Amino acid sequence: MCGIVGYTGFQDAYEIVINGLRRLEYRGYDSAGIVLEGSDNKLEVEKTKGKVEDLVNISKQLKGTANVGMGHTRWATHGVPSDRNSHPHLSNNGKIALVHNGIIENYDTIKTMLSEKGFTFQSETDTEVLVNLIQYFMDLNPEIDFPTAVRYALNEVYGAYAITVLHEDHPGVLVVGRLGSPLAIGIGEKEYFIASDASPFVEFTKEAIYLEEGHMATISLENGVDIRTINDNSKIEPEIQELKLSLEQIEKGGYEHFMLKEIFEQPKSIHDTMRGRLIVEEGVIKMAGIWDHVEKFKNANRIIIIACGTSWHAGLIGEYLIEEYARIPVEVEYASEFRYRNPIITDKDVVIAISQSGETADTMAALKLAKERGAFIYGICNVVDSSIARITDAGSYTHAGPEIGVASTKAFTAQLTILTLIAFKLGKHNGNLGNAEFMSLIAELEAIPKKVEEVLSATHELTQDIAKNFVKATNFLYLGRGYNYPAALEGALKLKEISYIHAEGYPAAEMKHGPIALIDENMPIVIIAPKKGHYDKIVSNVQEIKARKGKVIAVVNKGDRQVSEMADYVIEIPETSECFSPIIASVPLQLLAYYIAVYRGANVDQPRNLAKSVTVE
Ligand code: F6R
Repeated sequence: MCGIVGYTGFQDAYEIVINGLRRLEYRGYDSAGIVLEGSDNKLEVEKTKGKVEDLVNISKQLKGTANVGMGHTRWATHGVPSDRNSHPHLSNNGKIALVHNGIIENYDTIKTMLSEKGFTFQSETDTEVLVNLIQYFMDLNPEIDFPTAVRYALNEVYGAYAITVLHEDHPGVLVVGRLGSPLAIGIGEKEYFIASDASPFVEFTKEAIYLEEGHMATISLENGVDIRTINDNSKIEPEIQELKLSLEQIEKGGYEHFMLKEIFEQPKSIHDTMRGRLIVEEGVIKMAGIWDHVEKFKNANRIIIIACGTSWHAGLIGEYLIEEYARIPVEVEYASEFRYRNPIITDKDVVIAISQSGETADTMAALKLAKERGAFIYGICNVVDSSIARITDAGSYTHAGPEIGVASTKAFTAQLTILTLIAFKLGKHNGNLGNAEFMSLIAELEAIPKKVEEVLSATHELTQDIAKNFVKATNFLYLGRGYNYPAALEGALKLKEISYIHAEGYPAAEMKHGPIALIDENMPIVIIAPKKGHYDKIVSNVQEIKARKGKVIAVVNKGDRQVSEMADYVIEIPETSECFSPIIASVPLQLLAYYIAVYRGANVDQPRNLAKSVTVE
């Protein structure tokens, strides 16, 4: 979602901000803007609906004019994507500029109050209300300083925000604040950077402060970083962290899209997720997060997995894994439903939150609710130090590396890897998984990265050939059973989000209860049919589809005959135990979705309307 970049230092602020906004493009946006403090400290604003390159086209004249500035990529919430609604927004007196990520929920009440005092508004945004509220406090009491006015304003609003503010009369000073949306401050030599994540400044500094919930900071070359609590202005000692992120990790490395790069990174990301945890020679899984709280898991009434989107699909597979191997009851919930339905949660429940970004607003809110009601909270996040990672009682990072493509790929298979490790570890500990089976499963798990590598090389060209036949398709069905039912859901989600083809995932047996009505010669059906996992039943499903002339794309094990003979297109994957097959089967489905989208000319890395981290509900 919205991206923020800010800079104060000695370099060209225009270059830093524009390049920073390019790095944040992956978050998803529909308009972009920049404000710089010109030589006479006048604020120079340029903003436009569209992409960062559209912004560059209208703002080139600002290059080399300033050492202080900030920029924004907007993902529309209040008001359509338009030049007027783009950020930065200026206060009525033109002196204060503000960029904002999040939603001010009570903006309407404040807008009415400000309108009564004579303020006028150019846009439909909640952000313009906030910047004018800051002016209001400064007008009301000319004695108060700029950061105090920002603090007063933030104390009046509720909702979620990360903001950065500049004031013409306070040159070189950036005021930032956060509640719900992330914000990082990069500490360089005689320069400071602000950004929604560290990617815009990774080549300039390895030191950063992640602003905590409810904190604000005043940043200037003169006085450094002064952090305060928003509610009572208490001073906070900054906690400087060393960034692990490198420039190579956030570049495309020769691939046409981040998504393709990330699909191909999976042998490594799965391996990295297991590294130091799975020690096959010693016959152990080392996971401190689980081990330190193993009794909590062992004695849990149930485990509730909370997530959204792709992470929710991983959660469904987690349910199959944990129930099969650890025999602990598991429920999987959409975070957005869980948080609003007054769920029954007790201190005997363990809640596992799965989130690649660690910033998803619904997942965060659901966790807070579960925590308030006494549950033990475990996090599975990819982004280190993300908001969700920080509020959990314990957790495991997936170590998949930065995922830039909006469609989640390597984070998903890394989530499955962690869930597999958790299921095996708990199963071994509580005695449901005998030693011989445990040893054989972990040996197989260790070999999964190699199998993913094989699948990538065996299916890369094949999926391109198959994709060419479906460029004009308008609908797809994805079917699977058991562990591969969630894999079918995930395959369908991948296709619809990047190609804009309508796709539905179903448990194969459910076909007869409705979707079969859709099947005719124009309906492509992807069916996941590995040998281990209700194969005979799937054979019957394929027969039913073929009897209605549906076009079958079958994902089968090498050497398969029955399904392959009936299918129109066959994608072979190596045989594994059923519990690993979603990892293996997902890879060609990611490639298929990717190539269909590419052939349709879609913007694969930044699909329309989607955001990488969904920081508003
Ligand atoms: C799909 C996708 C989304 C996310 C969802 C949750 O490819 O990326 O469905 O999975 O928005 O995001 P996280 O995992 O960051 O909480």
